[in-house]
Amino acid sequence: MQTRVLTGITTTGTPHLGNYVGAIRPAVQASRRDDVDAFYFMADYHALIKSGDADRIERSRLEIAATWLAAGLDPQRVTFYRQSDIAEIPELTWFLTCIAAKGMLNRAHAYKAAVDRNTETGEDADAGINAGLYMYPVLMAADILAFDAHKVPVGRDQIQHIEMARDLGQRFNHIHGREFFVLPEALIEEQVATLPGLDGRKMSKSYDNTIPLFAGGKKQLRETIMRIVTDSRLPGEPKDADNSALFTIFRAFAGENEATAFRQSLLDGMGWGDAKQALYERVEQDVAPMRERYEALIADPSDIERILQEGAIKARAIATPKIAALRDALGLRSASSSSKKPAPTKTAVKSSKAPRFASFRDADGSFRFRLFSADGDELLLSVPFSDPKAAGALQKRIKTAGTDGVALQIDALRVVLELDGEPVASSTDYRDEPTCDDALAQLRQAIDQLAAGE
Ligand code: TRP
Repeated sequence: MQTRVLTGITTTGTPHLGNYVGAIRPAVQASRRDDVDAFYFMADYHALIKSGDADRIERSRLEIAATWLAAGLDPQRVTFYRQSDIAEIPELTWFLTCIAAKGMLNRAHAYKAAVDRNTETGEDADAGINAGLYMYPVLMAADILAFDAHKVPVGRDQIQHIEMARDLGQRFNHIHGREFFVLPEALIEEQVATLPGLDGRKMSKSYDNTIPLFAGGKKQLRETIMRIVTDSRLPGEPKDADNSALFTIFRAFAGENEATAFRQSLLDGMGWGDAKQALYERVEQDVAPMRERYEALIADPSDIERILQEGAIKARAIATPKIAALRDALGLRSASSSSKKPAPTKTAVKSSKAPRFASFRDADGSFRFRLFSADGDELLLSVPFSDPKAAGALQKRIKTAGTDGVALQIDALRVVLELDGEPVASSTDYRDEPTCDDALAQLRQAIDQLAAGE
């Protein structure tokens, strides 16, 4: 079976070397694998949250599309499209909005960070925050769930959003009693390099330390590389290659032998100026053929337009029937259709307010379950079981036991639930002790709520 891999690229900036090495190159490589069905799209609705500058958004959409195509993305193989061409996405966003716990969105990092900034400066908590930022995770969940993506390659900062997408998908499935949505998983590529920028910090537009991939051509590329900050060691003095941004960038482009040779030259005292020239030449070797394709695409964007429209047709072929099924499930049916559906069951109505278990089958075939709080936070993940009945029996026991009947402990930064002296479920690792303590309190409450409901 193919794994559907989906990711979105927010169209606000101009691609730089860090984007290329960290996201574009690995995504293009993944898309060539036979076991991968790749969906890549321009997240231009997300861009509207950050920017009201129409020209900039237009330019960024074009530049990003051209960059990905120039980097070797094959639109025949991949479904490559613009989010804003898929009318089903905002429609699904609304369906998900109506089951999203507001409390969950209050806890989303991007929104919370904006609130914290306001509070620090003594402003009203929500000053200057648009509701788009608040709803950002729901839009992102719709991007993912509309296409039943299995894996979502993202940076660490986005893991929480994938968890929310899972939660929303699971909630919908549970309320409507059917597996409407595949539950996605974040794919964090540990070995993919994060490139340092000109000042040695992570290359990022927000630090203003980027090296452009194509913008400004090879002249700009060379000039920017010449501005990489180094120490003041003179030619002839040995350089600390392993702590130099120059070497890290070189290694992201070169093969192993080349990188070893470059490192040795630095240790042997190559001057920084020569090292920068060598780095420029190595990067340019990879970038030059792509830049040529990029410039041809930008010069006549009608090819890009056609490719993206074809991508939208492919994407909608999946999203349209899916939304039709959801509309039907939600009761948004044609008045003349005679499909009388049974009224929702009592448990379905109750489910949106009570803590709940959700069972699933792991990639290795084992059976597990998660416990979610009434607010939809994931509290526990069970150990794997080979027998689904054993997993079911355990849920039943936890439900009836109440907090007195189970042992709850904190182990490092995770909460562990034990029964008969055996750990049977645990939480994820929390970032600090107060968060872990909160989670334990939440879990206690959930278990007591479950016991009260039995
Ligand atoms: N929010 C993502 C980012 O800033 C971009 C994005 C939007 C996305 N929708 C997505 C990524 C869906 C993965 C899946 O990086």
